[in-house]
Amino acid sequence: MQAINELIRNRKSLRIPFDINRKVSPENIKQILEAGSWAPTAHNMQNFEILLIDDLAKIEEVRSISLPPSQTFIQENYLQLSFSEEDLRRKRTGVLATMFPKSWLTPTLIPENRQKEEAEQLTENHHQLLPCPLLMIVLYNPSRRAPGSEGDFLGIISIGCVLENIWLMATSLGISMHVISALGNQIAENKIKEMFAIPAYFKIAIAFRLGYPAGSISDTLRVRRDLHDFTHHNNFKGNYFH
Ligand SMILES: Cc1cc2nc3c(=O)[nH]c(=O)nc-3n(C[C@H](O)[C@H](O)[C@H](O)COP(=O)(O)O)c2cc1C
Repeated sequence: MQAINELIRNRKSLRIPFDINRKVSPENIKQILEAGSWAPTAHNMQNFEILLIDDLAKIEEVRSISLPPSQTFIQENYLQLSFSEEDLRRKRTGVLATMFPKSWLTPTLIPENRQKEEAEQLTENHHQLLPCPLLMIVLYNPSRRAPGSEGDFLGIISIGCVLENIWLMATSLGISMHVISALGNQIAENKIKEMFAIPAYFKIAIAFRLGYPAGSISDTLRVRRDLHDFTHHNNFKGNYFH
């Protein structure tokens, strides 16, 4: 078990294929899920269910679902991109553009009026869901709303707490993880619900791949803001760190 500060710093997104022949052990899966279950949730609502998929044929079926990005994603994603490491170091937020297929990088490449089929063609060679021996899908039941929470903001934060606990436990066990939001898009969600007999009232909150890298890991630049960039002392204008 790593010290908590090391663990937090070592947790990272691994956007590479995981070895489908190297399973995550049942003991590790249990530890990961227990970590998730002990996450804080608003009103202790525990407003989530987790679907584990380790049947490789089923994972392949999920991978075959086309996940074209929405126009909104393309446009808003573009704003978070850095086109060089130097740029990312300077900005301290966002991600490197090299993570994404070229077709996502220029918002004008996919104009508003473009047909869905064309957008699918543009992204057909890009798999957001890379191979893995284990896929977990976190389901969210919007009717289990945290009391008095507009838009169930608190319920959604709670799912984030579950995700982080899981991610930290996976990291501490030497298991790699990659979060995938796109399975929550309406088309993918409907297909997955049908495939896995998920009751209609659930929404897919988030999904993640777990496993061990199939190849070597290249170090990608990860940045964070300095503490003084987001802290305010006794007054919004006040600095805690000088
Ligand atoms: C709610 C949430 C959704 C995310 N969705 C995706 C995703 O769809 N694809 C992806 O590659 N990474 C996704 N990520 C990972 C973030 O991009 C990543 O955590 C961030 O860039 C910081 O990098 P790090 O995880 O290596 O520290 C998501 C993370 C969170 C918390």
